[in-house]
Amino acid sequence: MHSFSELLTEFELFFGRHSFPKNPASLYEPCSYLLNMGGKRVRPVLCLMSHELFATLNENAWNTATAIELFHNFTLMHDDLMDDAPLRRGFQTIHEKYGHSTAILSGDVMSIFAYEHLNKINTTYIHTVIELFNATAIQICEGQQLDMDFEKRPFVTMDEYMEMITLKTSVLLATSLRLGAVLGGATSGCCEVLYNFGKTLGIAFQLKDDYLDAFGISAETGKQLGGDILSNKKTYLSAKAYEVANNQERIELNDLLNRTDEGKLKDTLAFFQKLNIQSLLQQEIEKYTLQAYELLEKVPVVSRNKVHLHAVADMLLKRDK
Ligand code: IPE
Ligand code: IPE
Ligand code: MG
Ligand code: MG
Ligand code: MG
Repeated sequence: MHSFSELLTEFELFFGRHSFPKNPASLYEPCSYLLNMGGKRVRPVLCLMSHELFATLNENAWNTATAIELFHNFTLMHDDLMDDAPLRRGFQTIHEKYGHSTAILSGDVMSIFAYEHLNKINTTYIHTVIELFNATAIQICEGQQLDMDFEKRPFVTMDEYMEMITLKTSVLLATSLRLGAVLGGATSGCCEVLYNFGKTLGIAFQLKDDYLDAFGISAETGKQLGGDILSNKKTYLSAKAYEVANNQERIELNDLLNRTDEGKLKDTLAFFQKLNIQSLLQQEIEKYTLQAYELLEKVPVVSRNKVHLHAVADMLLKRDK
């Protein structure tokens, strides 16, 4: 059983062995550029941790963890293009640095390299792993489309928001845990409980991502502060604000959404503060993290073996990047 930092160190070694072809450099350099910027590597480590609950880490697990991280980075490349984001992990985003077409194609090729790693998995598991991986990849596309569709809408309900973040973000954390368990030979019951733990943890994770977008520090997050507000994203903040606002405040919120001037960010943040959204969001992150702890308790392995997963949930709750 290993801690997050121990698995992270090991994973970086394995992940570092992955290299892209040299030519054309204009296609592959942006891929290496993004991977070398770092990233928390939460998903691959969750996969490895879950695997370790049932078996000794093996090549299947390392390759799956690598595929997950490559796939995640591919989604980020396209996400930044779609979100018109200037910064990622403290560096210029791919589409800003290399252009839109490159962000599309380098992202595409990175996703194919993810599948190259899945293709190395032992035949006993490969069919199941690809089936689970693909189902999740499709859900991410669905979630990302909802995220884009919602930008154009004046408001969304909390249920619509929750569905969107479950699809775009939480299922990948959940599937990372499930794949680790599957490859460790866990029973389907165990895999299911770990998946549910990951899904709840993933909701807390996206809630915290929304929190940091509005209330974080750009030097820490490595992203543009207030990007969600500026592009009219429907985050927990806007969904909650709409929910608790009175008629007059709903008009105010709608006016803020329609603004494009310099003061939009400052005024929208002040509006959210007036409605106490920051603290409501903080409570919601804590609520889902607690729920995740409870689900982790239901995973039928001895408690001392789950301390590292518990610590990850705690680390994600407290993160500022
Ligand atoms: C960012 O994911 C995209 C979301 C799903 C919120 P991470 O916060 O895991 O990004 P990195 O990999 O650590 O940079
Ligand atoms: C990203 O959500 C989800 C995926 C990449 C699938 P966000 O758009 O909120 O992620 P960040 O904030 O850019 O990292
Ligand atoms: Mg984004
Ligand atoms: Mg996005
Ligand atoms: Mg975000």
